[in-house]
Order: sequence, then structure tokens, then C-alpha cells
Amino acid sequence: MKILVTGAGGMLGSDLVKALRPHFDVIGAGRRDAPPHLTDLRYWKIDLTDPESIARLCAAEKPRLIFHTAGMTQVDLCELDRTAALRGNLEATKNVVAASNRSRSTLIFFSTDYIFDGKKRGEYTEDDPAAPRNVYGESKLLAEKYIQQTAGKFLIFRISWLYGLHGASFPRTLLERAKTERKFKIVSDQTGRPTYTADLANFFLDVLSANENALERLGNQTFHWANEGIASWAEFGSFILSLQYGNAVSVEFVSSREVPRPARRPQNSILSLRKMKGVFGFEPRHWQEAAGDFFQEYRQFNPIQKDIPS
Ligand SMILES: NC(=O)c1ccc[n+]([C@@H]2O[C@H](COP(=O)([O-])OP(=O)(O)OC[C@H]3O[C@@H](n4cnc5c(N)ncnc54)[C@H](OP(=O)(O)O)[C@@H]3O)[C@@H](O)[C@H]2O)c1
Repeated sequence: MKILVTGAGGMLGSDLVKALRPHFDVIGAGRRDAPPHLTDLRYWKIDLTDPESIARLCAAEKPRLIFHTAGMTQVDLCELDRTAALRGNLEATKNVVAASNRSRSTLIFFSTDYIFDGKKRGEYTEDDPAAPRNVYGESKLLAEKYIQQTAGKFLIFRISWLYGLHGASFPRTLLERAKTERKFKIVSDQTGRPTYTADLANFFLDVLSANENALERLGNQTFHWANEGIASWAEFGSFILSLQYGNAVSVEFVSSREVPRPARRPQNSILSLRKMKGVFGFEPRHWQEAAGDFFQEYRQFNPIQKDIPS
């Protein structure tokens, strides 16, 4: 089965390629040269905001599945440049939809917990009304709606608080900063489900290994996917830092008002996993176990100094 991964060099794209490549005919696409970990992958260097290039790719390769991970993912940059956010998340997706429809592929789109306003008490289900608080969430929601109206065959997976080995993420940034800092202020009034990209990629491998048609036969649907368990950013950050530094680093739990950012974030980002578990019979592991594995892998490639400056 031929599978195209857009944003193949990104955080989720890299782990999807890694998981699926040994078992399927995987092609990558991205706008930069293929990074070193993808050099032996069949890779198209294209910008998805150009409709012709993705159309050419799909016409030539006719992938059965397209994992569309590419997008403008820097939430604060999106807030500062709405035009770029809409181009990267909506216009690019429109082009992927058009190409996917022509090649009769099934499009798997990755959306976000940030389409919700975060005011609900309790978990967000797939049917809860969306009301994004920031431009990033708005641009992803517009892409979702476009897909629902226009794509022939699609699945939407809303995911949250991603981190992985390839790309910038909250735990990586903290571990880098901890090389020179010992005191952190991290927000404790936003709660969600930290999600390891390798776990999400391995979920797709499990599903497709059991049955190549498993995703296509579901019909057009939206799912939430995340690791089990919940945390605030402060709890997540403390956990990651404690793996390396024990109690030697201090984390002050603060409100988001104390750490202003250009984009507002929802306070409650907790995605319900019930539908996904029921349909796929899959139980994601707890985020702490996943974060522990991430940390071990991260440390192999990024030796971290044991002693931090006082
Ligand atoms: N990160 C999160 O916490 C999070 C949470 C929920 C949902 N999501 C969604 O999950 C997906 C994967 O996220 P991620 O964090 O893995 O993303 P990422 O690391 O930022 O990777 C995205 C990749 O897409 C590429 N790309 C962007 N625009 C492109 C274009 N116009 N043409 C071709 N390639 C393009 C990027 O290339 P450049 O390096 O050149 O920019 C990058 O390699 C995204 O759709 C995101 O919205 C992410």
C-alpha cells in the first residue's frame, strides 16, 4: 500500500515515516530538503501552498492514504500573521484535498484541541461545538470544515500537546533551557493530554498492520487521539525536568496571566478518547510512561549535563 506523508520532516511526520516505512510503500513530502534521518526516503520537495506541485505528486504516485501533517504549527506566530496561518493551514489543505480527490486517496488530517474554547467542564467529545480562541485554532477549524464539505474520503484526528524527537516541543525546550537555568515558571491553569508522536504513529501502524483497509472502511469521521491521563503544563514540565534533575530544578506553578503570550490558549484542552477507544479497541498508554520513553530516547542523542549551574 502506498502512503504519502506531508510534512515528513516535521515532528509527527518523522515518526509516521519511521513507523510505517518498514511495512508500507511510504513517500514523504515537505518544503525543505529531506532532513538527514529521511535521506533514503522517496521524497518530494514541494510547497503545499502551490496547488500544481501536490497535484503532480498525487497524479504520479496515486497514494492510497495521505497523512497530511504539514501546517503552520507555531501558535504564537499564527496569531501575529493571520494571513500566513490561513495560507499554511487552510490554503495548503485545500490543495491537498483537491489532489487527494483526483487520485481517489483517503486523506488523514491532523487537527487540534485548540479548536475548542476550553470553557467546558469535563472532556471534549468529537461533537462538542468548536469555538477557537486563537488564529491557529481558527485556521485548523476552517481546514476541518473545508475537508468535511469537499474531501471525497477523509478522517480527521484531533490531537493535543504533541512532542517528539524531531522538532521543537515543550519538553525539548525545557530540557535545553535546563542546561543553564534552574528556576522555571510554568502555567498551571491549562490542562490537557500530552501526546508522544511515536505513540500516535505506532497506533496507525497497529491499525494498518491488522487490516490495510481499516482506515478507509470507517467512512468519513472525526476522532480525538491523545495519550491517556491529564496534566497541566506545569505538571508535565515538572515531570520531564525531574527525570533528569530530580529536585535540583524548581518549578513555580503560575497562572497564564503571569506568562503572557501573543495567542490565548484554552484552559481545558482535555480530549475525550472514548470514541477512538470504542472504534479501534486501542488503549493509549499514560502520558507519563510515554514521556519517560521520550526522555530516554532524547537523552541518547542529546547528552544532557548532569550538573546544572547554581
Ligand atoms: N504540535 C502540537 O502540539 C500539535 C497539536 C495538535 C495538532 N497538531 C497538528 O499536528 C500536525 C503535525 O504537527 P507537528 O508539530 O508534527 O508539525 P511540525 O513539526 O511543525 O511539522 C510540520 C512540517 O510541515 C512542513 N510544512 C509546513 N508548511 C508546509 C508547506 N506549505 N508545504 C510543505 N511542507 C510544509 C514543515 O516544514 P518547515 O520546517 O519548512 O516549516 C514541517 O516539516 C500539524 O497539522 C499540527 O497542526 C500539532
